[in-house]
Amino acid sequence: MSTDNSNTTNFAKDIWHKDKEHFTHPWQMFDSFSEEGSLVMARAEGSYLYDIEGKRYLDSVGGLWCTNIGQGRDEMADAIAEQIRQLTYASPFVDTTTIPAAQLASKISDLAPGSLNHVMFSCGGSTAIDSAYRLIQFYQNCRGLHQKKHIIARDGSYHGSTYLAMSIGGKKADHPPEFDYKRDDIHHVSNPNFYRATGFDTQAAFLDFLIDELEQKILDIGADKVAAFFAEPILGAGGVIVPPEGYHQRTHALCKKYDVLYVSDEVVTAFGRLGSWFASEEIFGIVPDIITCAKGLSSGYLPLGATIYSDEIHGVIAEQGRDRCFANGYTYSGHPVCCAAALKNIEIMERENIFENAKLVGDYFGEQLKTLLDLAIVGEVRGYRLMQCVEFVANKETREDFPANIDIGKIISDIADAKGLMVRPIGNLNVMSPPLILTKDEVDFIVTTLRASILEAMDSLGYNA
Ligand SMILES: Cc1ncc(COP(=O)(O)O)c(C=O)c1O
Repeated sequence: MSTDNSNTTNFAKDIWHKDKEHFTHPWQMFDSFSEEGSLVMARAEGSYLYDIEGKRYLDSVGGLWCTNIGQGRDEMADAIAEQIRQLTYASPFVDTTTIPAAQLASKISDLAPGSLNHVMFSCGGSTAIDSAYRLIQFYQNCRGLHQKKHIIARDGSYHGSTYLAMSIGGKKADHPPEFDYKRDDIHHVSNPNFYRATGFDTQAAFLDFLIDELEQKILDIGADKVAAFFAEPILGAGGVIVPPEGYHQRTHALCKKYDVLYVSDEVVTAFGRLGSWFASEEIFGIVPDIITCAKGLSSGYLPLGATIYSDEIHGVIAEQGRDRCFANGYTYSGHPVCCAAALKNIEIMERENIFENAKLVGDYFGEQLKTLLDLAIVGEVRGYRLMQCVEFVANKETREDFPANIDIGKIISDIADAKGLMVRPIGNLNVMSPPLILTKDEVDFIVTTLRASILEAMDSLGYNA
């Protein structure tokens, strides 16, 4: 072995060790982590990641639903460097701003549907959700509706991991009892997952149930007490659940009927993943009162989130709250360097017509993944465009899950890693949300590699193909 190689190996081991001893990761599993530690990524280009040993992976996870325009673009690096040289930071508080923050707020307002013309910046999706919640409280208090504070969200939803965002989220696996949650004014209704719903022959019957359930929940709490309904257009981390056709329009209509604000959590779906700037109106036909976004807004180049809200809400808070201080925001709200990155990201999306690719390749991706349905343990393939998921089951007929000691999603994703493909294991799922620049050839690689990985896993578990 050459000295160069052994230096690299020593460096890789040192980094792996430092990480294992000192970096407490989001969603770390203490038992396995203490032995296995992390896979260290060192470099990226476009849709590909390279680990510290130089092994290449097609990143079909898109970072974490976020590397929309692909990694390592010089133009992005230049825009970020230029803004750092020009102005690294100025306080956004009260009445100071910066050129990129003002330009980006205006650009987002142009792109957002309806009268959503007002933007609060934050550092990511969770804080965008927190800001939405605080805005809702301020708004209802300004209206004199001091009791109207309750929130309804869905089982299986994910809205982030601040105390509040996690309490609004309804994913049971993310609610270990060692953490506490805000429960007094947060309620959940059913996950709109038809594949796992029992007792319904058709999606239409299931949809009727979901709508009745939401209406009953509003009435049980009291319409005068329900402030807002939080919903992802497609549930993401909860398993890429596309609700039955018409779900968003009917839940939106219910919200209007009972004076309940509709918060569309587009942290994953905004900025191209489904082939549109925002999915709420373009894909699902609704104009919400508030949209939260992050991730694709800066394509993961720098941390940035936004809470976009309507003229109607702004009218109330600016008028009724005019002599009050809107005490919400962060040191880094509208950080000029992050905003400059987002502006350049949006410019690239527009110039390269990336959404056309997301539509074309996204539709092909969905079709090709469906070819995996012939495998004995593939229960369902679902999603829309560049947001897809494969669900594994022990028995296709009964939809029975694998026993808890068989972590099927992780078994398959580990095999895929070894073959140079990253997919995201979430329980019995493999979730994929690749960059919007994905090609059809790369789709073919993903599907072929995933098929080979599933077959290898089946073989090791004693399943017939
Ligand atoms: C729908 C949704 N909302 C909010 C968040 C939280 O975003 P962040 O991790 O940037 O705080 C996520 C993260 O995956 C998300 O998927």
